[in-house]
Amino acid sequence: MPNDLPDALRSRAESLLEGVSRKDLAQRSAQLSDHYRAGGASRAVVSSKADVTAYLVSRLPATFAAVAAVFDEVRRRSEAFAPRSVLDVGAGPGTASWAAVEAWPEIETLSMMDSNREFLDIAAELASGSAHAALSNSTRILGDLTHPDTQLPAADLVIVGFALAELPEQQVAAIVSALWNRCGGVLVLVEPGTPAGFARIRSARAALIEAGATVLAPCPHAAACPIEAPDWCHFVQRLARSRDHMIAKSATVPFEDEKFSYVAVGRDALPASAIDARILAPPKVTKAELRFKLCTAEGIAEKTIPRRDRQAYARLRKARWGESLPTKGKPD
Ligand SMILES: C[S@@+](CC[C@H](N)C(=O)[O-])C[C@H]1O[C@@H](n2cnc3c(N)ncnc32)[C@H](O)[C@@H]1O
Repeated sequence: MPNDLPDALRSRAESLLEGVSRKDLAQRSAQLSDHYRAGGASRAVVSSKADVTAYLVSRLPATFAAVAAVFDEVRRRSEAFAPRSVLDVGAGPGTASWAAVEAWPEIETLSMMDSNREFLDIAAELASGSAHAALSNSTRILGDLTHPDTQLPAADLVIVGFALAELPEQQVAAIVSALWNRCGGVLVLVEPGTPAGFARIRSARAALIEAGATVLAPCPHAAACPIEAPDWCHFVQRLARSRDHMIAKSATVPFEDEKFSYVAVGRDALPASAIDARILAPPKVTKAELRFKLCTAEGIAEKTIPRRDRQAYARLRKARWGESLPTKGKPD
């Protein structure tokens, strides 16, 4: 499936599972998943190599797939963006760093920052198995985002994957603004696709617009977010489940759907293509029509394409949740 783990990462992660009791792995993986689903922070459940190993089974494939999907969209929005340096904040095992070099092979330097030494040790072990020089030569920074004196390097691409949830809510806006100051090109924030994850993305988006950032995705505008509770803006990425993951989750199907919310913002100077609308839900397809729920500059809108409008129907029939939808052009 698109956005499954790259071979080098998967085989390196699998080699860390050698000799590990599958029963213990399954228990830890299930515990991790439940804890994160309930909105808990890593520090309460990741304190040993065995815990990180369980993360590699239960969360890494899904967080990788979500971040990779967001990077795909950033590439669509700005073909000119060609980052040379990356700062991966709350890097965990380096998930987003691996997704970044897949998306932009021209990356030359990578810094992974995290407050958890266990995660960073495994991040280093995984990265050393990459054929990509930026990953094998990447640096780790042990530090706490909530400490004002934490020094971070500047980078063309700054990514925070599934880590805002672990910060004190009242500090998120200030931390995101500080990260924006270290960012020379694009800042990407990805969170779980829950109402709480979306709420964090929405307030970070507002703080970034206030700081002068240009929204690249998913929003087709920089106006106030028009979504009203109990609705929330999120997307989905399907990914294959490994055998260990199926056992850990007592899963019956060999895939899972990872829901995520995100925002990507860029510096004004970055050439980016404009979009008219974003598809916010699975399109409804009937024999008579296509129906889309859209985010537009005018607010949330429903767009109906009757089958008799053959050209538009044929053009949009394959449009999917999460894609952008130009009013007159083709979906991309
Ligand atoms: C759910 S994990 C996500 C890891 C990785 N980005 C991914 O997508 O797979 C959240 C990460 O944020 C890190 N984190 C939490 N609070 C932090 C802080 N105050 N400073 C730095 N990192 C922090 C945790 O240690 C953990 O590695």
